[in-house]
Amino acid sequence: MINSIRSTVKNRLSPSVTDMIRMDHTHVVEAFHHYEIDSGPQTKKALVDTVCLALEIHSQLEEEIFYPAMRALAADTPVVNKSIPEHNEMRRLIAELRSMDPLNAHYDQTFMQLMRDVMHHVAEEETTLLPDAERLLADRLGELGAQMTKRRLQLAAPRAGEIALNTVRGFPASSMLVAAGALLAGTYFAKRAFEGQARHRHT
Ligand SMILES: [Fe+2]
Ligand SMILES: [Fe+2]
Repeated sequence: MINSIRSTVKNRLSPSVTDMIRMDHTHVVEAFHHYEIDSGPQTKKALVDTVCLALEIHSQLEEEIFYPAMRALAADTPVVNKSIPEHNEMRRLIAELRSMDPLNAHYDQTFMQLMRDVMHHVAEEETTLLPDAERLLADRLGELGAQMTKRRLQLAAPRAGEIALNTVRGFPASSMLVAAGALLAGTYFAKRAFEGQARHRHT
């Protein structure tokens, strides 16, 4: 009984899954705005790696938690069906970027292509899928948000070293929260990661 009350309270306090998805989208776009064609190769690569990892984690969370919840409710889900091949196309471009030297003449272009695809995908999710979810899943939004936070931490934990290094290399101290946010939106861990990095910089 107490456990079920606890979990109801926790679910009510968790950000809703749809707000969390919007937050992820905003943070990725914000991180992208820090990309400058004239930056050094190491800075570019760190920023691209941050965005790519954020996209990978975000797509996996949607595929494991959000899309199945939508599928279970709506018989016809063309936007969800389209989302998986779109995620796979993003994964293809991410793999290409990872294998590419940032000095390669096609590096900027490949990253821009990825971001064009991301913007298109995000616009569709935000105009169609998320409003549908808020209507159809109204009483489960907090519970799904809590599941997403838990899974996000599991996925990010083994990559913590990589995340910290890319944050230091790719972002000035003033915008480290953008990098942490891109990966860990809405979690207490994001704030801690940011504070830890900022402290590290100042010592
Ligand atoms: Fe998606
Ligand atoms: Fe998304």
